[in-house]
Amino acid sequence: MLTQRLRPEDAPAYRDLMLEAYTAHPDAFTSSPSERQILPLAWWEDRLSTDTHANECVFGAFVASQLVGVAGLSFQTREKLCHKCTVFGMYVRPSHRGHQLGDGLLGTVLKAARQRRGVSLAQLTVTQGNRAAVALYERHGFVTYGVEPQAVTTPSGKVTKLHMWLPLRD
Ligand SMILES: CC(C)(COP(=O)(O)OP(=O)(O)OC[C@H]1O[C@@H](n2cnc3c(N)ncnc32)[C@H](O)[C@@H]1OP(=O)(O)O)[C@@H](O)C(=O)NCCC(=O)NCCS
Repeated sequence: MLTQRLRPEDAPAYRDLMLEAYTAHPDAFTSSPSERQILPLAWWEDRLSTDTHANECVFGAFVASQLVGVAGLSFQTREKLCHKCTVFGMYVRPSHRGHQLGDGLLGTVLKAARQRRGVSLAQLTVTQGNRAAVALYERHGFVTYGVEPQAVTTPSGKVTKLHMWLPLRD
């Protein structure tokens, strides 16, 4: 398994994987497949920009040269918020779950967060009841600081989101 930062040329595989994720797990993601599949490839390429001033980066786990897992990190740009970053879009294909790919991806994302100058905490949201994801985040030290009822409307109804955070420095 190889974990590396995705580049614009990975956009087609990234797009396919995320559309699979939004379709298979409508309760876990705020994005819907219909909302995302109409976006041009350039939108996905832009998200994978490796420009030094890029405000987002996405890491991918590759097995036999196939992209099978991803996790993203976005940095705040506003002056008073730029100490914060957000983990987003964590997904591992069902065929590759339970082999610590998610663990490795989250570790890589948090390492990148710690390397970013001025960033001192990470945040994320996760659907209440998503035990595998919550367990993964807690294992890396994330703590729930808020519970948002009726946060997202999904095909199965409104779901509650846990807001979690992790201080990145002492
Ligand atoms: C969450 C997800 C990324 C984890 O990926 P993964 O590669 O299987 O993760 P890992 O193998 O590193 O770790 C999974 C851990 O969760 C545990 N786990 C799996 N299913 C679980 C469950 N139902 N309840 C509690 N723990 C569970 C595993 O035992 C493992 O822990 P361990 O290493 O102590 O045994 C993956 O399940 C996934 O893509 N889920 C669907 C999308 C999703 O929910 N994304 C998160 C959005 S916030």
